[in-house]
Amino acid sequence: MLNKINPWKTQNKPSSLHERIDQIKSQEVPSHIAIIMDGNGRWAKKRSLPRIAGHHEGMKVVRKITKLANQLGVKTLTVYAFSTENWKRPKREVDFLMKLPEEFLGTFLPELIEENVSVKMMGYKDKLPAHTLKAVEKAMDDTKDNTGLILNFALNYGSRAEILEAVNKVLTDSKNGIIEETISEELFSSYLMTSELKDPDLLIRTSGEIRLSNFMLWQLAYTEFWFTEVLWPDFSEEHFVEAIEVFQGRQRRFGGV
Ligand code: FPP
Repeated sequence: MLNKINPWKTQNKPSSLHERIDQIKSQEVPSHIAIIMDGNGRWAKKRSLPRIAGHHEGMKVVRKITKLANQLGVKTLTVYAFSTENWKRPKREVDFLMKLPEEFLGTFLPELIEENVSVKMMGYKDKLPAHTLKAVEKAMDDTKDNTGLILNFALNYGSRAEILEAVNKVLTDSKNGIIEETISEELFSSYLMTSELKDPDLLIRTSGEIRLSNFMLWQLAYTEFWFTEVLWPDFSEEHFVEAIEVFQGRQRRFGGV
């Protein structure tokens, strides 16, 4: 009769977070992880709090996951902080969301600098309030020489607009004779806001929604997706580790066999 205690299970599956982190680091860690941080509003509602309380709690999770991603050797962490469609929300909520980068960077910039993190932003800068842009640009400037994790904020970002803008720039450059060849994937990628970044290896979306919501439509072509019911403010280091463990167990074929 088989022993009730399965020896393989305990051998192969480390139980503590520390052990799981060590195990992850011994294998290929996703180089670029993108996150759709969803569920802040529902988290707040469950606690009879205003929606903005959920966003504020979500901000703290960004800090926690940034630290862990850096520790794991992830090269880029892209977080969807505000979409081009989010302007449709009530003014009070939009105003609060636009103050979060200032609060986040005002509090954590010294820590990010200490940890060698480089802050970047992708999105349309023109519509952002001056105070938001100023905080982000200061952080980008203060961390521009850092060589650790790139923390890339998608702020007033929308993928269809990004693709259309790229197409229009390609047309202009083609008319002006700046580009003569037919457009390759590589050349087209260089016209996108992510021109300096590798495509994401792993996409995480929280809160049980299974859609892309106009996020990195071109760049996610071969990305592994991981969805969880967990609401973003409840997203923990354990959940992040779990997503990477699942990623490491997948076989990526990029259309091959
Ligand atoms: C979606 O949840 C979340 C957002 C639109 C904003 C995400 C922003 C943060 C997590 C904070 C960003 C932090 C920094 C540092 C800028 P939702 O409000 O749509 O949630 P719901 O679907 O439950 O209503």
